[in-house]
Amino acid sequence: MSYYNIQGINLTDLASTYGTPLYVYDANKIIEKIGILRNSFSDVNLKIKYACKANTNLSILKLMRKHGVEIDVVSPEELQLALMAGYEGSQITFTPSGVSFDEIEKAVAVGARINLDNLDVLEKFGQAYGNTVGALIRIKPHVFGGGNEKIMTAHPESKFGISIHQKQEILDIVAQYDIKIIGLHQHTGSDVKNADAFTQAASAILEMAFDFKDLEIIDLGGGFKVSYKEGDIVTDMAEVGQVLSNAFLSFSEKYGRPLQLWFEPGKFLVSEAGTFLTTANTVKRDPIKTFVCVNSGLNHLGRPMMYGSYHDIFNASNQDESKQEEYRVVGYICETDTFSWTPEGKQGERLMNEVQAGDIIAMKNAGAYCFSMASHYNSRMLPAEVLVIEGEAKIIRQRETFDDITRNLVDIGL
Ligand code: LLP
Repeated sequence: MSYYNIQGINLTDLASTYGTPLYVYDANKIIEKIGILRNSFSDVNLKIKYACKANTNLSILKLMRKHGVEIDVVSPEELQLALMAGYEGSQITFTPSGVSFDEIEKAVAVGARINLDNLDVLEKFGQAYGNTVGALIRIKPHVFGGGNEKIMTAHPESKFGISIHQKQEILDIVAQYDIKIIGLHQHTGSDVKNADAFTQAASAILEMAFDFKDLEIIDLGGGFKVSYKEGDIVTDMAEVGQVLSNAFLSFSEKYGRPLQLWFEPGKFLVSEAGTFLTTANTVKRDPIKTFVCVNSGLNHLGRPMMYGSYHDIFNASNQDESKQEEYRVVGYICETDTFSWTPEGKQGERLMNEVQAGDIIAMKNAGAYCFSMASHYNSRMLPAEVLVIEGEAKIIRQRETFDDITRNLVDIGL
C-alpha cells in the first residue's frame, strides 16, 4: 500500500465518490495483523478476542469472525452487535466495568463468558448462579503500562479489576458459593510498548492462578502498541510472543493441564487499517502560523484533543514533495480543535506538501477509537465509513443525515 492509495484505489477517488469526512478501512491490513498475532503465539493454544470498542462497524466484526477472531464486548449494545455479526454467545466475552447486575444477567443469558471485576459482583454472581455458570475474574495486577495516564488500567489506583492484594477475599467468595472460575484476566493498558509491562502482569496472574483449580483460560488483555509514525517504537510481537508463550507453557505444565491463552487487542488489529479523509476548507495564513482548516474536528476524531495522540497527516491531493510547508491542521469545532500534535503530546505543526483549499487531507491510524468515539458535538453529523476489500471499495455505513440527529427530540410545544 502506498501512502496515497488503498489496494490500488486512490484516496482522492474515494473522497470524490463518497464525500468527506470519510473513514476508510483496509481489510488486508486487518487480515495481516491477525496473522502477525497468530504467528507470534504459534506455540500455544491461542484465542484472539477482538476488543470491539475500538471499531464496532458490523462489517469489521464480520471480517474478524470470518478470519477466526472471536470478540470482547463491554456493553449490552456491543453484545447485540456481536450477535448481529453472527457470533455465538460462547464466542463472546463480556468485560464490563462497574455495570449493573442486569447487564451481566443479559450476557449470561446468551451464553457469553463473563469477566467479573469487583468483589460485590463476584458475590452476586455466586448467589445467582452458584457453580452452574463459569466465569473469569479480572485482576488488577498493580503494574504500570500504557501510552499515557488516561489509558493505563492495571496500576494500583485504576478503577479496573479486583486488586491482586484481595486474593484471599476472592478465594473466600469463590469457596462460599462454589463459583466455577474458568479464567483469570488482566489488561495492562493501551499503547503498551515495553515487553516488560506485559511480562510483569503475566507473571503476577500466573502466580496467582495456582490457587484456582478449574481454570481453562488465561486472558492477558490487549494493549499492544502500534506504529503511529515512521520509526516509532512498537510492541515487539516476536519478543512478547516468545516470552509470554514460554511463561504460559511452563505454567500450564505445572498447573497440570493445557489451558487456552487469550488476548483481546483492539488497536493492534484495526488502528493502522484506518485512514480518515477530510477536505481542506481554507488555508488560513496568520502572521505566526498557517492553519489548514478541515471539514471535521474532535467530534469525529477525538484522540488528538483527548490524549494528545499523534496521527500522521498528509495531503492526499498533492504528491509533489518539492514544495512543503509547516501547517497546523485544525478542525471546525468551536473550541481549540487541533489534529496536529507533536510526538511529545503538544499542539504543533506538520510539514506537508503544499495545501490548497479543496485538497484532501488524510489522517492515518484512524481505524481504532476514532469513529467509535465520535460524537454529535456542534450538531454535526457522523461521517460515512468505507471498507476496501478484495480490491473493491464498499460503503459500510452511510453518512448521517439531519434526521438522524433530530430523531429522538421531543417537541413539547414551547
Ligand atoms: N481489553 C480491555 C479490558 C480493555 O479495556 C481494552 C481497551 C482492550 C482490551 C483493548 O486495548 P487496545 O488493544 O485497543 O489497546 N480510547 C483510547 C484507548 C482506550 C482503551 C480502552 N480499553 C485511545 O484511543 O487511545
